[in-house]
Amino acid sequence: MVKAKDFRIPFTWENRHIVIHDGVWFMPPVLPDDPFVFTSWDMLFTKKQPVKVEYCSGNGTWIVEKAKTDPHSNWLAVEKQFERARLIWARAKNEGLTNFAIAFAEGVELTKRFFPTASVDEIFVNFPDPWPKRRHAKHRLIRPEFVQELTRIIPSKGIATLVTDNEEYSAIMIKDMLANPLFSSENGAPHFVVASDSYGTSFFDSLFRKQAKTIRLHRFVRA
Ligand SMILES: C[S@@+](CC[C@H](N)C(=O)[O-])C[C@H]1O[C@@H](n2cnc3c(N)ncnc32)[C@H](O)[C@@H]1O
Repeated sequence: MVKAKDFRIPFTWENRHIVIHDGVWFMPPVLPDDPFVFTSWDMLFTKKQPVKVEYCSGNGTWIVEKAKTDPHSNWLAVEKQFERARLIWARAKNEGLTNFAIAFAEGVELTKRFFPTASVDEIFVNFPDPWPKRRHAKHRLIRPEFVQELTRIIPSKGIATLVTDNEEYSAIMIKDMLANPLFSSENGAPHFVVASDSYGTSFFDSLFRKQAKTIRLHRFVRA
């Protein structure tokens, strides 16, 4: 059994660089000149099979369970916080998953710089930080710039699933996704359904369910 504290960053801060090491894609912040090249998903996964990405994975409960139950897809967890990335790493290692990788990285930057066009079958975002204040809106993951990137990386008929307990963020998700003509909602107005238990659970999912909050699940199909 490995523990989260066994997770090691393979460089010092002074020598930081973008690298894939031990199933983890390390992308330290603000390295615009790093020569790292991402040629294909073969750099992360041993089998060629559909790639599914979860952004904002937290401690990884949801995605590790998905990777276990769907071994015919390659699953990538994207998480920018060290304490959480290392929890995901330990969880996946201890499950012995071979169809799983982690990106310890900021999601928008990683996607823009490296994800190949039309190469990600599905993306999921479960309970992204809502950043409710207007002056913090630039920190929200779901924003037009990111939606534009999603249309680039997701091929025709691919799906983006966004989940939140937050009504305002739900409305923003719907507005920003439907403002892009390449996305349509799988569900008619109000463009979300209440997430069922079969969707899977996560740390924040169980927290919000205990608080009797409604969990809104939005599915958008790429044209
Ligand atoms: C509210 S938590 C949800 C975690 C998990 N999905 C769950 O349901 O328990 C949001 C997570 O997203 C991560 N996060 C926020 N913005 C991110 C970004 N731009 N790129 C990668 N991770 C991000 C945070 O570090 C945090 O772990």
